[in-house]
Amino acid sequence: MSERRFVCRCEDVTLAELDHCLARGLATVEEIKRYTGLGTGPCQGKECVALLCRILIDRGALDPATAQPFTARPPLEPVTFATLAAASLGPATTPAKEPG
Ligand code: FES
Repeated sequence: MSERRFVCRCEDVTLAELDHCLARGLATVEEIKRYTGLGTGPCQGKECVALLCRILIDRGALDPATAQPFTARPPLEPVTFATLAAASLGPATTPAKEPG
């Protein structure tokens, strides 16, 4: 059985994938997020970004004084399809009729 160490359990990002990023010169939290998807799962990085920063600091890729989390984007909490489906649609979302 292989030993896979997960850094981001939501998106299945492993320590080996982080080392792969570092070997290719991707060393910021934002670059690693974009390359691997780390931090984009249901917990939105609450469980993994601090660990990522710790790993980058330990490997000398990140200065603790300048460490920054990535920009959180809405929705900040997981939203169910039922919630989205129940949202009311205003007139601005009604498609315009095409002439003709
Ligand atoms: S553990 Fe990384 S997004 Fe949830």
